[in-house]
Amino acid sequence: MATIKFKNVAKAFDNGKVTVIPDLSLEIKDKEFVVLVGPSGCGKSTTLRMIAGLEDISSGELYIDNKKVNGIPPKDRDIAMVFQSYALYPHMTVYKNMAFALKLKKMPKNEIDEKVMWAAKILDIEPYLDRKPRALSGGQRQRVALGRAMVRNPKVFLLDEPLSNLDAKLRTEMRSQITMLHQKLQTTFVYVTHDQTEAMTMADRIVVMNKGVIQQFDTPQKLYSEPANTFVAGFIGSPQMNFIDSEIIKDSGKLKAKFSSYALDIPKVKNEKLEKYIGKKIILGIRPEHFLSVEDSDIKGKYAITVNAMLAEMTGSETNVYFELAGEKHIARIKSEKKICSGDSVRLFIDPEAVHFFDKETTMAI
Ligand SMILES: Nc1ncnc2c1ncn2[C@@H]1O[C@H](COP(=O)(O)OP(=O)(O)OP(=O)(O)O)[C@@H](O)[C@H]1O
Ligand SMILES: [Mg+2]
Repeated sequence: MATIKFKNVAKAFDNGKVTVIPDLSLEIKDKEFVVLVGPSGCGKSTTLRMIAGLEDISSGELYIDNKKVNGIPPKDRDIAMVFQSYALYPHMTVYKNMAFALKLKKMPKNEIDEKVMWAAKILDIEPYLDRKPRALSGGQRQRVALGRAMVRNPKVFLLDEPLSNLDAKLRTEMRSQITMLHQKLQTTFVYVTHDQTEAMTMADRIVVMNKGVIQQFDTPQKLYSEPANTFVAGFIGSPQMNFIDSEIIKDSGKLKAKFSSYALDIPKVKNEKLEKYIGKKIILGIRPEHFLSVEDSDIKGKYAITVNAMLAEMTGSETNVYFELAGEKHIARIKSEKKICSGDSVRLFIDPEAVHFFDKETTMAI
């Protein structure tokens, strides 16, 4: 069992002069894989280090397993942390690196051996146990760092950008390895990254942070389909969601969102909420992949706009079309067998059901 609970936790540096985390409340379930994402400097590592006990908290309460851990030193928290830099001991063999913490605990030799061999087998590093870290590839070193954490049987694994030193191919490989490791070990994982693909593919739930404040804490699917505000909407998804300034009008009894020279019908489910916005500015959010092209089969009844392609990138099965609307740049990712050239006029179709609506003042989803 290892739940983690932050209750109104604040963190300030420089004798309270710089507040990095103003008021954090968060509950992580037992055996959950939670990923923290957010821009550089938003407080991801600080949050992780507070769980580990490497940073003390300025106010509030932190619980691990329903036990208050404020003031409990790192070594007594039963937690293992894996860093971006691996931090292996260069003069020790892989075996010794993995055995080190257990030796300090005065664990009997045969038990240490059993543990190290168990972890090495799972991580597929048995052939390298006698090597020094410098004779290993980046991916192998990363696995040793994981192994060193595993042998300690921690209640919680904390991983701070563990894959960011690896090349793209290895990252993808290690990503699935870590997910499988989580399934095998059945422990709580808290994982920090600023790579949203990593977050989306690995997490049970994702915490999206900005400036030390949680913007949304939910499953990857929910973050994608129901982002709470424009920050989350823009952060999750690639290429990022298009934001279009718009005004809500009533035309012959029907609610519409006016933008550029267009007026899009508001879907019925949103009618009640958007009624309050008549005459007011809102933001429409449309994901690039939600635009349809003339080559799609289901464009009947969808709203058509005509844009001028500034640039078109063929990515294989799809084409990214860059265009401008009312002076703002946008991207549509559409199906196109026919090559699109810059300067071409392109018809795009919008399914009103796939459009997100945001309050322009608060940036919150409507
Ligand atoms: N020891 C410290 N003293 C003062 N400020 C600090 C200290 N440690 C971190 N900070 C500040 O706290 C903020 C959050 O830092 P943190 O390392 O948690 O960010 P992060 O989200 O992990 O960013 P990155 O993605 O770049 O790793 C930053 O503005 C950073 O400058
Ligand atoms: Mg960090």
